Amino acid sequence: MKIVVGNRKLGILLSGRGSNFAAIADRIAAGALDAEIALVISDQESAAGLAEARRRGLETAFVPAAGRSRESFDRETVERLRQRGVSLVCLAGFMRILGPFFVRAFPNAILNIHPSLLPAFPGLDAQKQALDHGVRFGGCTVHFVDESLDGGPIVSQAVVPVLDGDSVDDLSARILAAEHRIYSEAIGLVLDRRCEIDGRRVAVTNE
Ligand code: GRF
Repeated sequence: MKIVVGNRKLGILLSGRGSNFAAIADRIAAGALDAEIALVISDQESAAGLAEARRRGLETAFVPAAGRSRESFDRETVERLRQRGVSLVCLAGFMRILGPFFVRAFPNAILNIHPSLLPAFPGLDAQKQALDHGVRFGGCTVHFVDESLDGGPIVSQAVVPVLDGDSVDDLSARILAAEHRIYSEAIGLVLDRRCEIDGRRVAVTNE
């Protein structure tokens, strides 16, 4: 099934630092990614990424999560994304799990980036999990979001070595540099309608 997004408007969801968001915004500003960030949403009012989005003059929203159901949060977020005409939702360090309501509202139109070579090390602290396991290579994965945790079809991955003596910070920094590169590339592939999903596999076509 070819993934056809309706326009090139992105909605970014983040909870923290926002370096992946900034990398995407930089690529757009440089003319290397043909897209528009229509809205940046955070569940954390004090997220550095939200402040950075404001500094860049982007439309932002804080959607509080405390004291409400997952579906209530998801409904408000979906409503805001729809109001801004967003076609592709990009999770960039967004620390909440999206419920079925959200995933069904944007079928095959939500991407996430995860700092491991999935399906290895899903969930939190993926870089520490990789180090503790003793793997020789780590990396990152951009995948479509479905109702599983870090389990949707994979668009793109990058591999980095684990070096002797690496700390979690060392490995995380090496992976992060790769994240900043492949996330924009994967977004471009989806926006250019070059992704076809067949079961778990994503084929990338030339046109
Ligand atoms: C990244 O490592 C990303 O893979 C994970 O959360 C981290 C977010 O970093 N999902 P940042 O907020 O984009 O700097």
